[in-house]
Amino acid sequence: MSNPSMRRRVRTAVLISGRGSNMVALVEAARDPAFPAEIALVLSNRPDAGGLDHARQAGIATAVIDHKGFAGDRGAFEAALHQVIADKDIELVCLAGFLRVLTPWFVTRWTGRLLNIHPSLLPAFRGLDTHARALAAGVRIHGCTVHFVTPELDEGPVIMQAAVPVLAGDTAETLAARVLAQEHVIYPAALARVAQGTVRLVDGRVAADDDDTPSTAPLIVPGLPER
Ligand code: GRF
Repeated sequence: MSNPSMRRRVRTAVLISGRGSNMVALVEAARDPAFPAEIALVLSNRPDAGGLDHARQAGIATAVIDHKGFAGDRGAFEAALHQVIADKDIELVCLAGFLRVLTPWFVTRWTGRLLNIHPSLLPAFRGLDTHARALAAGVRIHGCTVHFVTPELDEGPVIMQAAVPVLAGDTAETLAARVLAQEHVIYPAALARVAQGTVRLVDGRVAADDDDTPSTAPLIVPGLPER
């Protein structure tokens, strides 16, 4: 079958905790029948996550597993999460602003099939408040990273990154908006590669066999004037 629309699409779950703009970007990309993944489930640990309404309106199955219902029992929460995902025959999981740290128990069950998007150029600025920390550090180039998830927080092998300049007068909010626009570009692109198998996790490293070498033009961003 050479018709790409006839290929089986990889069943993908997106895990969110909030507004879900990255989830929406993935859903929009997957509207194209030629996109190699289908978003088969949107799952939130917060019943009030804004992204849930978007998913419902898009006709996508949603689930809520409220971590507060597990009285701090992380193992039971993750077992419930895993069960719902497995029941839906999910093959790939994308974390998209999912604000629960996952334990090695969950992560190792999804090795090579669990992706995350992080709002910095990893390994710089792991953890929270990345944009404010980038401004405080005075970096001229900032960005975002899609990576495979490993048990160490924000440490997994990099699948794709996008860089943006830091501009004079930037606040954490303006910088976040510039980075977020690129998140919405690279997350669907990275998911497509993993779903079609051209990017894989092999022995803890990313292996890629598609030849989309980026431009070798350097991204040079001059220093900013004194504030
Ligand atoms: C994004 O900045 C993402 O990089 C980070 O959490 C934020 C989620 O935003 N992991 P949204 O819910 O996808 O709009």
